[in-house]
Amino acid sequence: MDYLQILERIHKAILPYSKEGKQADYIPELANVNPDQFGMCIHTLSGETAAIESADTRFSIQSISKVFALAMCHSIKGDALWKRVGKEPSGTAFNSLVQLEMEKGLPRNPFINAGAIVMADILLSHLSNPEEDFLRFVRAVANNNTIEYNHSVALSERSTGYLNAAIANLLKYHGTIENDIEEVLHFYFLMCSIEMSCRELAVAFAAFANHNRPFDYAGITLTTSQVKRINAIMQTCGFYDEAGEFAYLVGLPGKSGVGGGIVAIYPLRYSVAVWSPRLNSKGNSVMGIKALELLTTETAESIF
Ligand code: DON
Repeated sequence: MDYLQILERIHKAILPYSKEGKQADYIPELANVNPDQFGMCIHTLSGETAAIESADTRFSIQSISKVFALAMCHSIKGDALWKRVGKEPSGTAFNSLVQLEMEKGLPRNPFINAGAIVMADILLSHLSNPEEDFLRFVRAVANNNTIEYNHSVALSERSTGYLNAAIANLLKYHGTIENDIEEVLHFYFLMCSIEMSCRELAVAFAAFANHNRPFDYAGITLTTSQVKRINAIMQTCGFYDEAGEFAYLVGLPGKSGVGGGIVAIYPLRYSVAVWSPRLNSKGNSVMGIKALELLTTETAESIF
């Protein structure tokens, strides 16, 4: 399979959509990103890599970081994690409050904001240096020691993060988080602020695609079965109230972020990352979804 040629063909085919959607501006720093950018990188488990356009430009990975947080929490707490957060798709927006109130502060899954705020709380309780330990883990999975948080993005999100503060307050009211709300939110925003390129994300997610190989990075270990389960949650919950549409169009487990990045994996075959900041109404990259839809259609490689 000539992946480079396929990616180039895909890019040409989706150009008509390049002005569709709107970049996230509820995080002021993200409104400053040039929305007319696109990058894509595929990394096969047999060691091939194909990358096009701005595949080496770093961007804010935002909710993609929730997969790394889940890997850490699952490694630390094992199945006890599921007492703190559910594993059912929410069918609601990533920042919805309604369901959380109805369900008495138990988040539906780890990928909606409420679930990730609970994971931030778990990591704060269990790690000796949460900020350093989380970054060390992400760097180890990506095999790249230059990956960093973007503190201005994290602070910028804190300055307007009223909805996440409401979620954290509701969680605290129901006793679902242990630590101080301000500390939990600070760490949650920091995790979201990590910057990586498509190439770096594709390498990092190969660790999830290759679930037959032992997962062991910076002291965080997962069994084959645990990685399989993280992939299942990416499939059912990775795109919030667009998870069904993504499964229908693309047919791969994946995770999106409001920075415009999307990662997806074809277990035992490849990992792929795509980035373009303009988002649809569900907060997912317009060109990113189109590109992945074309990738699995053209290559006839998807899990379905
Ligand atoms: O908490 C937020 O709203 C952002 N830091 C992350 C949201 C996000 O990336 C949703 N993904 N599509």
